[in-house]
Order: sequence, then structure tokens, then C-alpha cells
Amino acid sequence: MNIKKLAAEKAVDWVEEGMMVGLGTGSTAAYAIEKIGERVKQGLHIRAVATSVQSENLAREWSIPIIPFAEVGEIDLTIDGADEVDPNLNLIKGGGGALLREKIVAARSRQVMIITGENKVVQKLGAFPLPVEVVTFAHEWTIEKLASFGCKPVLRQTKDGDVFKTDNGNYTVDCHFNVIEDAARLHHQLNNIPGVVDNGLFINMASAVVVAYESGVIEVLR
Ligand code: 5RP
Repeated sequence: MNIKKLAAEKAVDWVEEGMMVGLGTGSTAAYAIEKIGERVKQGLHIRAVATSVQSENLAREWSIPIIPFAEVGEIDLTIDGADEVDPNLNLIKGGGGALLREKIVAARSRQVMIITGENKVVQKLGAFPLPVEVVTFAHEWTIEKLASFGCKPVLRQTKDGDVFKTDNGNYTVDCHFNVIEDAARLHHQLNNIPGVVDNGLFINMASAVVVAYESGVIEVLR
């Protein structure tokens, strides 16, 4: 059972004619983009804004009209994946390296629909290393400050061993906390460190989470 695909395709049922749609990033979001693309080929008219170059390229392959963020008014619906989801629908995102644009697009959206498999639903966030986007200047010092919050920070690398750069030209530090007791507090604390651009905690941003189970059942958490 491909639970990512199942959740993604279900969420696309919420896409309606004329909408401005936010396109997430990652393998689950890619299934949603492809499904939207199929519907566009069948005559659905939407406009979309992408949360990464990767998603923009995929959307263009499917002839989904992409609008630059500067020309986007309010976004009706954003569909995006997540790395972890807690019972309050708070999230860890950024495993795919796109947390900053994802958070900006989510903040501009009337509805944010998260799509995920059952394996990413947790009682407490933090087993998944929290991605933090940092500017390249003085990143060594920023990483020291991140460590002072009790995590093991790891500067993200590509498969070839180069330092990974986001679409915004920044670095990503994956912070291994194991468990995050107070996600809202940590979100503010980390964003107060000079050099941190944003972190992958999405607090009170998800309107709904579509969870697909190996059994084939789909649940919508609100
Ligand atoms: C990208 C993200 C992704 O939504 C998250 O990493 C989940 O990815 P996938 O769907 O490939 O498991 O936040 O920055």
C-alpha cells in the first residue's frame, strides 16, 4: 500500500475550480501535484504557487500554471507533507529542505492541508531531527547556539558530501532532540538566535491532516 499516494490523492478532492493552490515539497506532495496535474489535463482551471524549485518544475511538467509569489493574493488551499504530526496538529517539516518557503506559503493560505502516512503521527515531536535554516555567515556560531538548547546539531550535506544549500542559498542544520517537550516555546527560542532564518516547527498552521493507514483507511484530523 502506497500510503503517501493515498493521502495525497484524497487531499486533492478539496481542490476546486478557480482556486489558488499552494504546492508543497517532498515525495508525498509530489503525488498531490501529479494528481492535480491529471485534473488540470481534464479541464480543471487553477493557479498555483510552489514551495520549492523542485515542485515548481514538477508542476510545470504537468502544465499547472505557476504564479510568482509576488503576484499571489491569498492562497485558498495549500497541500503539503510533513515529517511528524502531533495530536494538536503541530508539525515538524523541512526534511526535504524547503521549510522556509513552505512556512511562508502556509502563512498566506486560508487552509493548509497536510498529507501523511500513519507512521509520521506521533505523541510528541522530536524523534525526527528538527531542520533549522541558517544563513551561511557565522553558521558555526549559530550551530553552537542551537546546541545550547539541548540538541545534537548536524549540518546537512548532499549525497556527494557537499554542504546542502536551500533554494534561498542558506544552510540547513538538523537538530536531534529526540523529544521536544514544548514545541511552541522552542519555536520562538530558536528563531531568536541571530543567524537562524526559521525552523521546521509549524505551530497551529495546519487546518487539517489527512492520514493514510496501511489498511487503506484514510482519516482526516482537524
Ligand atoms: C519538505 C517537507 C516535506 O513535506 C517533508 O520532509 C515530508 O517529505 P516526504 O513527503 O518526502 O516524506 O517538509 O521540506
